[in-house]
Amino acid sequence: MYHKITSCRACGLGKAQIPTLKQSVAAGPQSGDTSLLPVFDLGLQPLANDFVQAGEEQSGFAPLKVMLCPRCNMAQLSVVVRPDILYRHYSYVTSPSQTMRDHFQTLVDMIPLASHKPRLLEIGSNDGRFLDFLQNEKGWQVCGIDPAKNLCETAHRRGLKVYCDFFGADAAARIQEFEPEIIMARHVFCHCPDWKDFVRGLEILSPPETLICIEVPYVADLLSKGEFDTVYHEHLSYFSIKPMSHLLMETSLRLHKVVPLSIHGGALLVMLRHRDSQTSPDKSVSQYLNAEDFGHEAWRKFSTDSFRKIGALRHFVDTAVQNGKRVVGYGASAKSTVWINACGFTRNQISFITDTTPEKLYRNSPGTNIPIVDEGALLRELPDYAVCFAWNYIDEILQKEKAYLDRGGKFIVPHPDIKVLP
Ligand code: TMP
Repeated sequence: MYHKITSCRACGLGKAQIPTLKQSVAAGPQSGDTSLLPVFDLGLQPLANDFVQAGEEQSGFAPLKVMLCPRCNMAQLSVVVRPDILYRHYSYVTSPSQTMRDHFQTLVDMIPLASHKPRLLEIGSNDGRFLDFLQNEKGWQVCGIDPAKNLCETAHRRGLKVYCDFFGADAAARIQEFEPEIIMARHVFCHCPDWKDFVRGLEILSPPETLICIEVPYVADLLSKGEFDTVYHEHLSYFSIKPMSHLLMETSLRLHKVVPLSIHGGALLVMLRHRDSQTSPDKSVSQYLNAEDFGHEAWRKFSTDSFRKIGALRHFVDTAVQNGKRVVGYGASAKSTVWINACGFTRNQISFITDTTPEKLYRNSPGTNIPIVDEGALLRELPDYAVCFAWNYIDEILQKEKAYLDRGGKFIVPHPDIKVLP
């Protein structure tokens, strides 16, 4: 189901290298000590989007441990779960929320346009929601690629041209005829086990002026805001700009610009261009490179803080249940799987979780027997508390669920620190 990773994905530290006798003697007795450091460990965990029906078998459990590279500060999981298990059928769909629509517009505003009807390729196009926005509301020419059959079918029904495959050099060769001017990869690079093949694919599609936009969760937000619930098996790498520059060293691509984004709790839009591009790199690249310091100490603090937050939610929910209160979950996000399993919740604590995604309904929250139900259940059942696992949409949810709040319902927001609303 998974294999172990022992070397740094960005700079190669830890790759088996057999030194010459002369090198070993010169380096001395410490020369073999090139190992990655464990910095955050949630033990064995289920796959965050493995929503199965009662009675159906889950894919299984795998270690969830982050390793830090002491040379380039790349943080990555200690194992890679087989991509076909994770992605051939995928239940995460791009949110239809207003927050996400606003984000699409933000991205459009950031992209410098060379033409009126630009050609954009989206890697990891999911159910095609972003491409649909570009094609039908902005008049762009678009094309996508995604490995999930179920999501490609939805994108096809939207009238979009989407290839159903993992992106890499082979897939890029097939897409070449589209000649994209812009390549967008939103929250997909951190899922990628083989960057070399992914970047090779980008190179194939990148004549000098192609703009490549990679949206990644930023490790600075993860660490400073304690967002441990974005650590799950799909997120193999936790990015900062320094390891990314290491990764690109041996390629024809260069960092061009770095822009902070607020989506999903904090992300970066990292723009790349070919090294022969006439457009000079933005000063943001060197600013990020000079400011970054995400070493062992930052991760140690993050780990301590995360376990404190897990303990706080567990204590709150346990106490509420012991006092006869009914607690449910709101939003069966991948984040919810991390929280629920880290807290060790079952149906005894969380009666059900509401969610708007049809693919998740009437399935169980991964690793537990907690059922996912439609969002109407909140008003029908009127639980005392709803733990908002989709905390990144909390403002929108408070507006939407006014009727629940008016009838005395309360939201527990577990992040950044547990609070009860109203
Ligand atoms: P995401 O943070 O990965 O986008 O996941 C959010 C999840 O929360 C997704 O499964 C949809 C769900 N959700 C609701 O059920 N109701 C809502 O109002 C919102 C905004 C999200």
